[in-house]
Amino acid sequence: MALWGGRFSSGPDLSVAKLSRSVDFDWRLAPYDIRVNIAHVNALQRSKVLSDSDAKKIVFALKELGAQIHSGAFIYNDSDEDVHSAIERGLVATLGELGGAFRAGRSRNDLVVADFKLYLIDHLLHICEEVGALVETINGAARTQLGVMAPGFTHLQHAQPILFSHELAKHSHSLARDIERIQGWLRHNSISPLGSGALAGSPLVTSPEITAAELGFQSVTRNSIDAVSDRDFVAEALFILAMVGVHLSRIGEEFTIWNTQEFGWVTLDDAFSTGSSIMPQKKNPDIAELARGKAGRFIGNLTALLTTLKGLPFAYNRDLQEDKEPVFDSVEQLLTLLPAVRGMIATAKFNKEKIQEHVISGHSLATEVADFLVQNGVAFANAHEISGAAVAAAEKLGLQVHELSAEQLSQIDKRLTKGVLDHLSAKAAIESRNSILGTSLKSVTAQVSQLDEKIRGFSTWVQSEQKRFSGMMSA
Ligand code: ARG
Repeated sequence: MALWGGRFSSGPDLSVAKLSRSVDFDWRLAPYDIRVNIAHVNALQRSKVLSDSDAKKIVFALKELGAQIHSGAFIYNDSDEDVHSAIERGLVATLGELGGAFRAGRSRNDLVVADFKLYLIDHLLHICEEVGALVETINGAARTQLGVMAPGFTHLQHAQPILFSHELAKHSHSLARDIERIQGWLRHNSISPLGSGALAGSPLVTSPEITAAELGFQSVTRNSIDAVSDRDFVAEALFILAMVGVHLSRIGEEFTIWNTQEFGWVTLDDAFSTGSSIMPQKKNPDIAELARGKAGRFIGNLTALLTTLKGLPFAYNRDLQEDKEPVFDSVEQLLTLLPAVRGMIATAKFNKEKIQEHVISGHSLATEVADFLVQNGVAFANAHEISGAAVAAAEKLGLQVHELSAEQLSQIDKRLTKGVLDHLSAKAAIESRNSILGTSLKSVTAQVSQLDEKIRGFSTWVQSEQKRFSGMMSA
């Protein structure tokens, strides 16, 4: 059913109907559209556009329709242009003329923004839960690996020894920032556009603040033109989703490398690996690779929206209908990917011997030599030179820097006294880095439990927002 037509001599050409139709994808907005419509009917009742009894009838019918949409008993058909027209068709079917009365004072322009914001609130909160669960899984792995030492890399070259738990937990920290981004998103996007109408506001909607509060929004827009044009909230959401995707891609890359025969740090569970159609022996890390690969489409979705918005005139333009599919794709793909990545990590077996095998190869204790000299009064630039000379001497002898004897060290520089030997073990190097951000056992244990606590705080926040939101749903 079309929501316009009075001035037209014919319906749209088939090619036009096909082009402009969005119901196949925007049907996802149906539950939110019902909710927004109910709040709008209440507004029309307050401004006496609808009598109490008509408003009651429409709200009842909207709730019924909502239940039928939920159960699948009501669904869009071939003649519906978008979700909004399908819902009005459903109302007219039960209420007759009255079914068309409730859209006075609002346009699809403000309606679609309200629907889309509510969809995003709902789904970003769900993504928060999934990301939080992934952080808990990674933290769990970090806790069980406490004490396992690993070579730390920069440039994918051995750099300095670290705790393997420190390595794992870094992912928890980046993902926790994504949850904070969602919190920030909600804080500044909880603004209702309703009452803006097509672009100028409506004389029939006199207290948009009440409608906003009824829907759970924190405030109401102060510029109706901006409100129907604004898709910043969509771009920001797509950025957050892309950032989560990028973080997952880095986890994917790492697990792919760790799972190689050459590294052998991790063995993936059969349920989280896949085989080859030709090579019977193969067990491939496809989940990790998909985590890496899907980042491309998340970034693509963000880019697509920003490109649509660039240079767009203000108020509503039909280009804006292109805002939805990238979001649905990013949300649905992430909600598919997150549990798989979580399962892969939860079931992974970490191979301690392999992880520890090269913890101090590649002269990765050379910094300890320099730091020892600095602690004994040598300027760092000199200390760096001396330590470099020790590495060169060790290389000549076919040794690692920590394998040099006290005599050999003191021949390189007399300030390299016997005491340096106490620093030349992976354990000593790791344990000496014991500030709040360091890699010592004490530091990492505290970091992981602090993050666990933070995640508990996030999950309380998500639950309270969901409660507020679902309270509105049943309104
Ligand atoms: N399906 C449209 C969209 O998603 C709804 C708004 C249509 N507004 C209009 N003035 N044609 O953008």
